[in-house]
Amino acid sequence: MKPTKWLLGAAALFASAAFSVAPARADGPIVIKFSHVVTDAAPKGKAALKFKELAEKYTNGKVRIEVYPNSTLYKDGEELEALQLGAVQMLAPSTAKFAPLGVKQFEVMDLPYLFPNQAIYDSVTTGPFGKKMLGMLQSKGITGLAYWDNGFYVLSANKPLIKPDDLKGLKLRISGSKVDDETLRTMGALPQIMAFSELYQALASGVVDGAQNTASNYTTQKLNEVQKYITTTYHVHLQYAVIVNKKFWDGLPADIRAELEKAMDEATVYNNSIAQKENTDALAAIKATGKTEIHDPTPEEQKVWRAAMMPVYKSAEGRVGKAIIDEALKATGQAQ
Ligand code: LMR
Repeated sequence: MKPTKWLLGAAALFASAAFSVAPARADGPIVIKFSHVVTDAAPKGKAALKFKELAEKYTNGKVRIEVYPNSTLYKDGEELEALQLGAVQMLAPSTAKFAPLGVKQFEVMDLPYLFPNQAIYDSVTTGPFGKKMLGMLQSKGITGLAYWDNGFYVLSANKPLIKPDDLKGLKLRISGSKVDDETLRTMGALPQIMAFSELYQALASGVVDGAQNTASNYTTQKLNEVQKYITTTYHVHLQYAVIVNKKFWDGLPADIRAELEKAMDEATVYNNSIAQKENTDALAAIKATGKTEIHDPTPEEQKVWRAAMMPVYKSAEGRVGKAIIDEALKATGQAQ
C-alpha cells in the first residue's frame, strides 16, 4: 500500500522528532532512506548501491543507507513531497519532475537539443549553470548534491517513427515536464504524464501508444518488449539531481556529512562513467532480440526532427522564463 498524505504527515512528525536526536545518537546508526524509481540494474540503481557501500564504509557504520529501488517506497509524484516532509531523506529524481516544487526553471533542461552533445552536458551540469540550478532547490527545503547522468532520450511506438508527422495522434507517456508536453504536442502527439512504475503496463495494454526514455530505461523496465519501433532521436537529455532533505542534511555532524559528500562524489563519478555504455549496451541488446526495430535517423531526418521541435524555445518562455532559457543557451554555447 502506498502512503497517503496523512501517513506522510505522521511520518514527517515522527521523523522530525527523530532528526533532532538522530545525528547525535550513540546507540545506533543514522539511517538515510534513499528512494528511487528504477531497478538496481539501471545506472542510477547501481550508483545508489555504490553510494551505500562507500557511505557505510567511510562512516565506519555510523550511517546506514537503506536503498529502496523501483518505486518500492514511493512512486514519482509522491517522492518529492515525502522528501520535503522528512519521511525519506534522499532521492534522485529526473529534473524533468521538479515543476510541482515550484521550480519551473528546471524544465529549461528539457528543451529539445539543448545539450548538443555529452561533453557539453557534462561541463554545463558541473559548471556554474548546473550549480545555480541546484541552488534553486534550497528555498524548497532541499539540498542538491550532484547530477547523475542517464543520457539522451529515444522515442518509441508500435509503428515506425521516421519523421515528426509519424507522432500525430499518438498517446505518448511523459514523466512530468510541461516542456516535454509542449515539444511532443507541437508535433501532434498527445502526451500524458504517468508514473514510471505504471509505464510497462500502460504500453502493454495500449493505454498509451509510445514513450520517450533512455535505452537503459527501456531494457531495465522491459519496455522494449512492448514497443516494436525505437528511433534514436536523442532529442532531450535525462539527468537526475541527487537531493536530500536540507534540514536533515544540515543537522548531520560535520565530519559525517563530509564523509557522505566524499561517498557521493565517488558514486557520481561511477554513475557518470557507466551511463553511456549502459545505453549503448541496451540498444545492442534490444537489437539482438530481433523484436524491436531501431531506426537511427539520417542527418537529413535529424534536421527535420530538430526543426519540428524548435518552436518550443519560444512557447516555453512564458513558463520557464526567457532569462533562464537565454542563460542555458549561453552555457551550452548556443547563444544567438
Ligand atoms: C521516467 O520517469 O521516465 C524516468 O525519469 C525514470 C528514471 O528515474 O529514470
